[in-house]
Amino acid sequence: MVETQTKILVADDDDMVRTTVSKILEMFGHAVTSVSDGEFVADILDDSFDVVLLDINMPGMDGFETIKAMKGLEREIPVIFLTGAGSMDYVVKAINLGAYDFLTKPIEDIEIFNVKIRRAIEKRMFVRRDKRYKMQLEEDVRLKTRELEKTNKLLMTYSHSLENATVQLMSSLQNAMEEKDFYTAGHTIRVTEYAVLLGLAMQIPENDLVIIRRAAQFHDIGKLVIDLSCIQKPGKLNDEEWKLIRKHPEVGANIIKPLGFMEKEYFIVRHHHERMDGKGYPDGLGSDDLDTLTKILIVVDSYDAMTSRRNYRRNMTMEEAVAELKRCSGSQFDPDCVDAFAEAIIDFNATSDAFSQEYLENFKLVGRVETK
Ligand SMILES: [Fe+2]
Repeated sequence: MVETQTKILVADDDDMVRTTVSKILEMFGHAVTSVSDGEFVADILDDSFDVVLLDINMPGMDGFETIKAMKGLEREIPVIFLTGAGSMDYVVKAINLGAYDFLTKPIEDIEIFNVKIRRAIEKRMFVRRDKRYKMQLEEDVRLKTRELEKTNKLLMTYSHSLENATVQLMSSLQNAMEEKDFYTAGHTIRVTEYAVLLGLAMQIPENDLVIIRRAAQFHDIGKLVIDLSCIQKPGKLNDEEWKLIRKHPEVGANIIKPLGFMEKEYFIVRHHHERMDGKGYPDGLGSDDLDTLTKILIVVDSYDAMTSRRNYRRNMTMEEAVAELKRCSGSQFDPDCVDAFAEAIIDFNATSDAFSQEYLENFKLVGRVETK
């Protein structure tokens, strides 16, 4: 670092003192600026000065007022008071006001004078270094924080795209599985639409709409690993076949379990065949154990099963299915979900044009890709 010349400001109303002190300081290699009154100090003082020498008695602004004004500017420049003989009582006041040191005038011992000036300069250098260090530290922290934020953002984007890719892939598999079976084709898409419709009707938060949509998309994914031949066969399923098919919620939940970002969806998928009276499967959970999102899926999944064509029975009309939901409200289904869904599905079918626009907008909000 290049050593720059130290700058000292001298304020004294006595021409002789000002000139003498300035000369001595210049002799020791310092650059000196001198003023005849304290009121000029505030005007010219800036951070480039290293030490201020202040006389106490000056006609305009005395030394005490001047040091107070300097502190107001948050200057961290050491101030040395120049006190005349017999004015030692000022010293205490000067020190209390934050003066760094004091010198008696006339200056009799140049060596002592020089030592005091050097000490003040060292103090100033220490303050400067400390300030620089703190500023550098703050800047480093700012830079590191910015870098971390950037990395975090990248990681978040990366993680989101991974999540999306996973969801897309699983969704494609799920749809492909369904398309193989004429009777279940479109089931997942319809259930997902109904789930969002009911979610909107029940005014669940937007985050929950994302969750219920995903859970609906994957609720039957367990059927991917179950032999479909028994589902596709004409006629009713026998006990063995039912036993097998009743495993799909558990199997499906286990498929999505390793995906940490689908923790809530895991619960919904596992329990989408539970009943409010605890007689469902796989765990026999009851109304108190199930959350609203799971209750929503239970209703809309059953509604679609009733209204879509199965290989062993004809499909119900909307009115018949709604009546069936109401008949089983409280035992199989959550009453609030049934009431809200009955109203929403009737409205939806009656005013599908006007209603569907708003519905589809909301559907897009939660990430729906295909339309009906
Ligand atoms: Fe299912």
